[in-house]
Amino acid sequence: MALRLGDEAPNFSADTTEGKIDFHQWLGNGWGILFSHPADFTPVCTTELGAAAKLKPEFDKRGVKCIAISVDPLSAHQGWIPDINETQRCSMNFPIIADPDRLVSSMYDMIHPNADATFTVRSVFIIGPDKKVKLTLTYPASTGRNFLELLRVIDSLQLTAKYKVATPANWEHGQDCIITPAVKDAEIAALFPKGARHVKPYLRYTPQPNA
Ligand code: BEZ
Repeated sequence: MALRLGDEAPNFSADTTEGKIDFHQWLGNGWGILFSHPADFTPVCTTELGAAAKLKPEFDKRGVKCIAISVDPLSAHQGWIPDINETQRCSMNFPIIADPDRLVSSMYDMIHPNADATFTVRSVFIIGPDKKVKLTLTYPASTGRNFLELLRVIDSLQLTAKYKVATPANWEHGQDCIITPAVKDAEIAALFPKGARHVKPYLRYTPQPNA
């Protein structure tokens, strides 16, 4: 069955380009992004891994570890990394899981047989420090993902885990947030000392509390 938001991210042990891991132990107490790609030595995947590697300082700042996976064996991952480094002008700095038996891919429902019988689609799972799934995304093989969008979502997830706010369409770090509907008007002054803007009874903005 597909994983849903709030489900525990299943644990597994697997070989990766940085050694064997127990997934939950590897995550530790931080956030994680597990993302699949269809196959090694393919053009879009090459650009995606390079984009994620170049953003590692941004993921680190937010306490987020990235890990990729495909159904290719470890030897293929190891052979491909020099190409990623060369063509994307980066240095691969996070592990790629080898899943030739499709154990992890099946656990995370990353193979969508009506799209492709064999290869993983472009799945993304953002996992919180409680090991619960906080976000899922599924892209087709033909569309590379936007890793800046993943950072933006992480910013929203980390903010909304701490404060009684939600983030509006196209929100970016530093912009006004929406006060969640459960907060009563009478509570706003105490919860949001930076003030509030009431547009409708259900649409109330406040400056980002932690910016
Ligand atoms: C790619 O990463 O370029 C790719 C992989 C599978 C199908 C199509 C494109």
